[in-house]
Order: sequence, then C-alpha cells, then structure tokens
Amino acid sequence: MPTTATAQHRTAELEARIATDPGGFRVLTGDRPTGPLHLGHHLGTLANRVRLQDAGVEVFVVIADHQVVTDRDVAGDLRGNVREVLLDQLAAGLDPRRTTFFTHSSVPALNQLLLPFLSLVTVAELRRNPTVKAEAAGGRPMSGLMLTYPVHQAADVLFCGANLVPVGRDQLPHLETTRSVARRFNRRYGQVFAEPEALLSAVPLLLGTDGAKMSKSAGNAIPLRASEDETARLIRSARTDAHRRTTYDPAARPEVSSLLLTASVCTGVPPEVLADEIGDGGSEQLKRVVTEAVNEHLRPLRERRRQLSGADDHLREVLARGNRRANAIADDTLRTVREAMGMSY
Ligand code: TRP
Repeated sequence: MPTTATAQHRTAELEARIATDPGGFRVLTGDRPTGPLHLGHHLGTLANRVRLQDAGVEVFVVIADHQVVTDRDVAGDLRGNVREVLLDQLAAGLDPRRTTFFTHSSVPALNQLLLPFLSLVTVAELRRNPTVKAEAAGGRPMSGLMLTYPVHQAADVLFCGANLVPVGRDQLPHLETTRSVARRFNRRYGQVFAEPEALLSAVPLLLGTDGAKMSKSAGNAIPLRASEDETARLIRSARTDAHRRTTYDPAARPEVSSLLLTASVCTGVPPEVLADEIGDGGSEQLKRVVTEAVNEHLRPLRERRRQLSGADDHLREVLARGNRRANAIADDTLRTVREAMGMSY
C-alpha cells in the first residue's frame, strides 16, 4: 500500500504531465446525492474538478445514487438530491458540454461489472478497508452493499477508462482496491483496464459551525445554496472560544482558526494577516469578516445557481445526455469484459 508521501510525490509528477498533455487524462469522481453540497465541497473537490476541466482534461462525475443505500435504510428524496448535487456542480463551473454527469442506477452495464470484479477480491480484503472497518465497528448490522462498495466504486472508475481519480487522503485505500481489481483482471483475462492513479488534492480541512468536521450529515455545514442571510446566521452560530483577541493557532484554537482559514481560502489573504486585522474586535468582528468573505466568494456561484434552478428542462437534458454517453461507454466495456472472460455467446 503506497504511503501518503509516495502519493504526494506522484501527484506532483502527474500535475506536470496534466499541464503539458491534458488530453492524455480522463478523470472520474463523484458524490453521493444525500443533500446539497457545502462550502467544504466547493473549496476542496468542486474547484479542483473545474480546474481539471478547464485545463482540458475530460471529466466524468458520478452522482452515486446506489451508494446512498450502503449505510442507511431510507434514501430520502433521491430525485431532489440528485437535482441539487447537479445544480451545485454546474453553478461551480462544470460545463456539461465537456463534463459527463451520470447516475449509477441509469447505467446497468456499469453495475454488471460488479460481479466479475467481486470474484477478484477476498472478503478479508474488503473487511480491511478503513471505511468498511469503521462501519463494522459501529455495531449496526452491515449490509452486503456496504461491504462491497469499494468494488462497486472500482466499477465507476474502470468502466469509463479513467486513469486519474482526485481523492483526499482518506480515499486512498479505495483507489488501491480499484488498482488491484484492474491488475488482477488483466492478469487473469488479458489486458483490458488501465490502472488509475490518485491525484491527491490539497484540501484545507474546514471545520463545521460546531467545531467538528464539516459534513452534509452533521448539520454543521454552510450549503452552497444558502442565502447570504442564512450564511450570516450559520456563521454567527459557529463555536468560538473565550479569548477576546483573534489569533491563528490551529492546535490551541481549532474553532477560531478554522473560521480564519475559511475566510482565508475565500479571499486569498493569509489567516495570520486576517487575525491581525481583526485584532481585539472579538468573535463578532471575526464572524463579520468570515461572513463577508464567504458571501463574496460564493456570489457568482449562487447567481448561476439561481439562474439554473429555473431551468428544469435543461437539467433533465444534461443528465439524460450524460447517462446516454455513460451507457454507450459502459456497454462497450462490458462487451470487452465478457469477451475477455469467454462469456460472449
Ligand atoms: N464515495 C464517494 C463519496 O462518498 C463518491 C464516489 C462514488 C466516488 N464513486 C466514486 C468518488 C468513484 C471517487 C471515485 O463522496
């Protein structure tokens, strides 16, 4: 298993190659449609997707509806959530003429790849995956789909021939599963799949308004679609500490520092400089600065989102077109896989 340091080193090499030969890369990435995306997504993954797209890399984005039911019994308003996730991506600057959006459930051949792929991994390997392990340790009964979802995720990447997967550190083990599946398939049945590589993204870890990691499910995030007033309210409710003076000290003052970091990534001003400017203004002044920075940063995105949200026909068409393209590619891949396995009759 490669270390983070190896992946970081490799990422630098890959970035250099992307700059000179963007057409040599195809990216697959995605999100679970469990609710609208938030500021952490934008500063981390969405901005990175837009950057790769604009550099000339072909991007595929899966709206991973089948993954929603890995660890919950109730999928919620899937149709509404798929729409929100799609809107967030388009508003962030992903262009449906260059980037392909699709949903798992609309691409049967992708899902069919799960069967041969499952034959290439052991149950012990699946149980060692950190996400699966954490779920098992949670004490709830674990679904078979939860146990096998890293392999389903391998199918997302491999069906479309992606050779690059932007990931945070925590997703490196998933990519290792994808690489093992590709390698073992090729060894057993002949060369079919490229072994995709991880592109580590330098994502600042933003804390939510309660001081814990910002997450859709924790209710502590600033949704991209929130109004400016809602944003102000959410930031006003954020946890700080009792010191009057604002300083940037992530170890000793995680909440205040995360707020400073949020304003910093939105404005490009270093957090220490912002802290100095706020000085003895207290948490009210800190929160005013952060609110202004976030609202300013998101204003163009929110404006595009508002325009697009009235265009239901356009949204439906974007997804229909993406699904058609994903199906054409998945059908081809499945045909190749069946031939390689001697299953074409
Ligand atoms: N598991 C990812 C998430 O929860 C979403 C996802 C589905 C994904 N398939 C993928 C990410 C393939 C990268 C590659 O956000």
